[in-house]
Amino acid sequence: MENSFKIIKPEQIQDNLFKLIGSDWMLVSAGKPEHYNMMTASWGFAGVLWRKPVAVAFIRPNRYTYEFAENNPYYTLSFFDEDQRDILNLCGTISGRDVNKMGIEGITPLITPLGNVCFREAKLVLECRKLYFDDIKPELFQAFELEKIYPKKDYHRFYIGEIVNVWQKERPLP
Ligand SMILES: Cc1cc2nc3c(=O)[nH]c(=O)nc-3n(C[C@H](O)[C@H](O)[C@H](O)COP(=O)(O)O)c2cc1C
Repeated sequence: MENSFKIIKPEQIQDNLFKLIGSDWMLVSAGKPEHYNMMTASWGFAGVLWRKPVAVAFIRPNRYTYEFAENNPYYTLSFFDEDQRDILNLCGTISGRDVNKMGIEGITPLITPLGNVCFREAKLVLECRKLYFDDIKPELFQAFELEKIYPKKDYHRFYIGEIVNVWQKERPLP
């Protein structure tokens, strides 16, 4: 990783995760440096499970990113400052099936020592090792209104990943 990032512990994350995920949004990325894809996500959470720090991402099965999340043992969650909102809007409205997201200008892949892809413009990156997945099952909804979120019945698959590295931007980009 570039030396503008330093490794911190999950407990040292200063930003509020409700804001980071829900308002700032994140790029969920999976794949290899030569073949990866990323999408914007604003649903997810982080916490502790099985005595490990974990982060959970929700990916609908029709997303191109889903294929990469399925076929790779890791995914990364990258968080950005407001000046990258255009990139997040773009990656949240176009699919890697239609546009090669590896070629989007203004966002530069950065390869972690484990060989996973995150982004140079990020301010914070969580690198996650898949531990578990499951699919949202409508028969288990305990609140009626949730079904309205899925008119197409494209229930999310969620991935629980162990946070194996947290990278924080130390210095602004040169
Ligand atoms: C703000 C925002 C948040 C989103 N959150 C999610 C999410 O949590 N899960 C999901 O499956 N799609 C989410 N999306 C939709 C995907 O980002 C979008 O469908 C994207 O084009 C998928 O790209 P892909 O086909 O290249 O994977 C979100 C979109 C936006 C704009």
